[in-house]
Amino acid sequence: MKESKRRGGIGKPGILLMVGLLSAAAWPAQLTIRADQPKDTIAPEIYGHFSEHLGRCIYDGIWVGEDSPIPNIRGIRTDVLEALKALNIPVLRWPGGCFADEYHWKEGIGPRDRRPKMVNTHWGMVTETNAFGTHEFLDLCELLGCQAYIAGNVGSGTVEEMQDWVEYMTFDGDSEMANLRRANGREKPWKVKYFGIGNENWGCGGNMTPEYYSDLFKRYATYVRNYSGNQIVKIACGPGGIDYNWTEVVMKNCHRHMDALAQHYYVRGTGTWGPNEKGSATQFDEKEWFALMKNSLEVDEVIRKVKEIMDKYDPRKRVALFVDEWGTWWDAEPGTNPGFLYQQNTLRDALSAGIFLNIFNRHCDRVRMANIAQTVNVLQAMILTEGNKMVLTPTYHVFEMYKVHQGGRLLPTELTCEDYGFNNQKVPALHVSASKGKDGAVYVSICNLNPNQPAPLNCNVEGFKIGSATGRVLTAETMQAHNTFEKPNTVKPAPLDGIQVKDGKISLTLPARSVSVLKIVQ
Ligand code: AHR
Repeated sequence: MKESKRRGGIGKPGILLMVGLLSAAAWPAQLTIRADQPKDTIAPEIYGHFSEHLGRCIYDGIWVGEDSPIPNIRGIRTDVLEALKALNIPVLRWPGGCFADEYHWKEGIGPRDRRPKMVNTHWGMVTETNAFGTHEFLDLCELLGCQAYIAGNVGSGTVEEMQDWVEYMTFDGDSEMANLRRANGREKPWKVKYFGIGNENWGCGGNMTPEYYSDLFKRYATYVRNYSGNQIVKIACGPGGIDYNWTEVVMKNCHRHMDALAQHYYVRGTGTWGPNEKGSATQFDEKEWFALMKNSLEVDEVIRKVKEIMDKYDPRKRVALFVDEWGTWWDAEPGTNPGFLYQQNTLRDALSAGIFLNIFNRHCDRVRMANIAQTVNVLQAMILTEGNKMVLTPTYHVFEMYKVHQGGRLLPTELTCEDYGFNNQKVPALHVSASKGKDGAVYVSICNLNPNQPAPLNCNVEGFKIGSATGRVLTAETMQAHNTFEKPNTVKPAPLDGIQVKDGKISLTLPARSVSVLKIVQ
């Protein structure tokens, strides 16, 4: 029997110990939570979202228009709004993605029937009506009670256009842009906290070198002004996946001018990036399950290396790391437009989300925002819609369960657990993060990556007198389980039974292929 030991909860290579006789029964994992050593605050923005003008994310998914028979508030569908509100969404990024660098904001203001149409060249060459623009997006943010994160156009837009946009949204005084906003029905400026200077400018945002982008970043960022008390967090474009050279060059050249560096990180089963090799969202076997678990865990190492580079230029950690696009990316659902990136979402996606969020929590000293891609009907969505119907995905439930970490203090963890092996590879079977909530409770999120074996767990909390513990669990009969419009509740959270508290320690069993969140109180 092999024991894999993970200390500090941040995935150092395991220490293998041969401990006697082979046995089929799982030995209890041991988790120690250090409530006596609270670390940084877990920024609520780690639980952020991203909505692009892509496929049916904005149109159908969020915006149906005021005249739609689908119930809506000023054109925004009510069912989706209510479901998103239940997640306490802290921040929403818009309008792209790749769309951001061909978006000209002035086409999306004023009377809707007079807004010019454009071609969405990145996503299916469809006609973009511009019905959903700046006012509609900021109205959505106000309805959700979240911060706005706007991605500006560097690839095909001008400096003046970007400057005007910020002035239009945020200036309270007498100016052409502020008066144009008023003429379009909004007297008071909005608060816009986050502004991205381009998106993926190494690719769809202009195919630039990091040196060229650095110069453009500084030029554009100069004119992104703080008007009328609005304080903008300026975000520089970072790499997609692994490109440490991009990170190095942009940090070296621009760290004094930026408040955050973006990083994108998508995962899929086999880890290959061929155009048609992403694999099916729902038809997969254990090899693909294992590959996704392993690929998801690897983001930890990537963040570590990015942090090392950032530490070199910004040892005081003034500049945040925003993982402002992340998630699983599968082949589009058969029968749908491949340019719309519509995919189903199974228990496998939920496990991947649980791992990512644990990792972001554990790196909260530098990672201060993350935005899963995307909110509705695109990639690893929270919500799928079809006409007036809506279904919540397993990933939605992970966000709902994990929201207790928002704004808590990270607690270090020491975990000793079995490995989950497949063929001749292995990963630790359990993955965890913990926080001390503002309400004084300790919250622990634990993923059991093993699709076949439940995991008994003993847990103690240093510096905290355990009174009682409760839990919720997300699991299902199969790895491929997902929610459909016909069966929307196949995967949904349930109470985690069998939690025992004795002599100040907790024992429980985590079901195979599950995501659990425990609440421990004094
Ligand atoms: O989220 C889909 C696309 O993925 C975004 O538009 C782009 O930024 C990334 O490549």
